[in-house]
Amino acid sequence: MTQQLTSPSPARRAAGPAPGPGWWRDAVIYQVYVRSFADSDGDGIGDLRGVRERLPYLKELGVDAVWLTPFYASPQADGGYDVADYRAVDPLFGSLADADALIRAAHAHGLRVIVDIVPNHTSDRHPWFRDPELARERYLFRPGRGADGALPPNDWESVFGGPAWTRTDRGDWYLHLFAPEQPDLNWDNPEVHAEFAAILRFWLDLGVDGFRIDVAHGMVKAPGLPDIGRGSQATLIGNQSLPFFDQDGVHAIHRSWRTLLESYGGARIGVAEAWAPTPERLALYVRPDELHQAFNFQFLTADWSAAALREVIDASLAATASVGAPTTWVLSNHDVVRHATRLGSLARARAATLLMLALPGSVYLYQGEELGLPEVTDLPDEARQDPAFLRRRATDTGPSGQDGLRDGCRVPLPWTVDGPSYGFGDGGSWLPQPAAWGGLSVAAQTGDVDSTLELYRAALALRRSLPGLGDGGMTWREAPDGVLAFARPGLVCTVNTTGGDVALEAPGKLLLASAPLPARGASAVLPGDSCAWWAI
Ligand code: BGC
Repeated sequence: MTQQLTSPSPARRAAGPAPGPGWWRDAVIYQVYVRSFADSDGDGIGDLRGVRERLPYLKELGVDAVWLTPFYASPQADGGYDVADYRAVDPLFGSLADADALIRAAHAHGLRVIVDIVPNHTSDRHPWFRDPELARERYLFRPGRGADGALPPNDWESVFGGPAWTRTDRGDWYLHLFAPEQPDLNWDNPEVHAEFAAILRFWLDLGVDGFRIDVAHGMVKAPGLPDIGRGSQATLIGNQSLPFFDQDGVHAIHRSWRTLLESYGGARIGVAEAWAPTPERLALYVRPDELHQAFNFQFLTADWSAAALREVIDASLAATASVGAPTTWVLSNHDVVRHATRLGSLARARAATLLMLALPGSVYLYQGEELGLPEVTDLPDEARQDPAFLRRRATDTGPSGQDGLRDGCRVPLPWTVDGPSYGFGDGGSWLPQPAAWGGLSVAAQTGDVDSTLELYRAALALRRSLPGLGDGGMTWREAPDGVLAFARPGLVCTVNTTGGDVALEAPGKLLLASAPLPARGASAVLPGDSCAWWAI
């Protein structure tokens, strides 16, 4: 993936370089959480111009594409995943002209651009929801249960905690799988289909290279909206079939979107954010006539053990191979605890990253993981903005599917060693940054060969230089207990998931390691919680 890339929209066909064949199959895609990446106007909130100014950093890091989280007009009840106008940029983040300029500038840097699309729900400030007649047809309203309809229509719980229903002044109830400010759309209504097709076209015409489809498993609900009849539903999400997630009916929507994407020349992609219960169910989203990729949350949630990792890698590869799609790998995003904290140490996080970058398929990185940022676990309650946190407090419900601690992975990035917000912007930062942030900044790590930033840069450069590494085959090799070893085109990857040193025969010349690794001739000692790449 070293060639210059393009996004050949009808509007822009003349502007960019030629598309690569199936570019997404081995792409490294960097998630920009716009609100926390870079703030160009000093209001404490990241914006599109801030992203544009930092494109050279992303280019130099060595990624192929960026995924921008929602920047559309929104009351920000859920960090922009509550969209009031899908064709407008929220003034917090800039203007449509800024979005246009960002897409052009990214393409000029050879970076593709994926934007987020939120089709399961809108904001309650969306014009459709504000018009009672339109709302009735385009959202999911139902009468309540009980003598005077005072009980919710069924027992579904919101992913953010509490009932998934809110009663209106008129006495009926509407469904919201997330916050009450995020009413679920009625995908039985053809006008909803038509509107989203038009929204996709709007952004494709502006030149985007694809969409990350939010809650891609949620748009279709089981007929009759049946009760679940089991206790806390949060623990079931992603593990079991539920009447509001992963219903077979969603696939018709994804098929129609694939047709739409193909009409733009074949290089525009759809990526499913789908919490499916098994790799096999997830693979259905990436059948040849559906979406191009789906996030692999089974990998993200795997334990740090050789057996668990090998099992999830094999299951993921087998499931996607059965439909001819590339596998994807991800360790962090804006909804989960950063992997430097989740896995228990930075050493494990660095090792997990090298493992991920050696696997066949496409990789998603989340901003700040290249700095080894930990989760910020001590944010004051009054600073928190995650609706899951606020709702849990308001409804006094137990841990929900999204446990209300998502602010800790969204703290704005440190770019410089000091300054008002460590170079994030000239003003403050919408979430307080820890004092240690300066030492973890881009400036502090650049040029330090032992830093996590330089490890990412080196790994991404090597990945590019080894043809076939992204999408080629993989063979497991014999390895001691607790160690994984596999061969890929051009390298062998060894991962020691135990806490102690393991001696092994060096599979080749050492290329890169996540920890200092004394290699002496034919033998080597792989330190605990480390990963090494060897040339073969
Ligand atoms: C997004 C979350 C968001 C939710 C509701 C998720 O999949 O990643 O950040 O809260 O969808 O839109």
